Amino acid sequence: MVVTSAPGKVILLGEHAVVFGRPAIALAIGLRSRCRAQIIDDHIGSVDRIGVQHGSYISTAIHCSWDGGPLDIEIQSQLPSGSGLGSSAAVTVATLGAIASLKGEFDEETIARQAFEVESVVQGRASPIDTSVSAHGKGIFISSERGSDLLWHISKDTRNWYIHDCEVPDMTLVVGFTGNKAPTGPLVAKVKRYVDHTRFAREIIDEIGDITLEGLQRMRSGDVEGLGRLMNRNHGLLAILGVCTPPLQKLVDAALPHSYGAKLTGAGGGGSMIALTDAPEKVAEAIKGRGGIPFIVGTGVEGVKVEE
Ligand code: PMV
Repeated sequence: MVVTSAPGKVILLGEHAVVFGRPAIALAIGLRSRCRAQIIDDHIGSVDRIGVQHGSYISTAIHCSWDGGPLDIEIQSQLPSGSGLGSSAAVTVATLGAIASLKGEFDEETIARQAFEVESVVQGRASPIDTSVSAHGKGIFISSERGSDLLWHISKDTRNWYIHDCEVPDMTLVVGFTGNKAPTGPLVAKVKRYVDHTRFAREIIDEIGDITLEGLQRMRSGDVEGLGRLMNRNHGLLAILGVCTPPLQKLVDAALPHSYGAKLTGAGGGGSMIALTDAPEKVAEAIKGRGGIPFIVGTGVEGVKVEE
């Protein structure tokens, strides 16, 4: 029997612009999915104890990476599904990690690549942000160009992603989940229409790319205040692109008086926001007061791992 776990994520800077080849920064967070896997005796019978929640990710992961005997798989997750916090990636990565460990072939990069394939099969068009950061942990910088600290390069069709390790200073984030699940696809399509038709939207995408590059420098120098200001600017630009919603904006406004910066994270249209703060309890209270579900999360957490 083996138990593995893998973290969820937030996108700190650069969502949506990353779809157009601009860079993005994603951080692993201290909310994890756990997988317990065991090869069961053929004679016992029961093969399928997969829960409904992430069933298609788990069965695809097994299909892609396991040809041994029947498996008993049990998943537990601290990540609410549909919250934009990478719950499906964390479940997929933890499951693939457990299978790799059963095979004696546990390797972060291989797990990241397989997990991206699984997400692509189940979701259709996916980017490898969630799966790569869940496998690697800490932080990743994703870009269409190769830079220093390269972890791996993933390509699909004509698309290319260079995944780099990104130093993460000690910081506390508060996540505020609106409780509204929002599918990523329609929001990406909405932004694409805007970008295809207006120069103004293309300039916004470029500006988000510049903000992300500056954010990388601020992270390296541990400038939390500067990073917070960049998050605020990034949020304003995402709002102009039309992916913020009134409930998200309410949570951002509630967090701001006690934060260095706050922004929606992920696709928007619902889902979650994040605030960078050194007063996490106050921010969590403020988020709760506006009807959100707060999670105080540490960063710099480990990626996929085998639990003791
Ligand atoms: O909320 P999520 O985890 O689905 O994040 C989506 C991030 C986008 O940039 C909007 C889309 C993508 O595939 O990069």
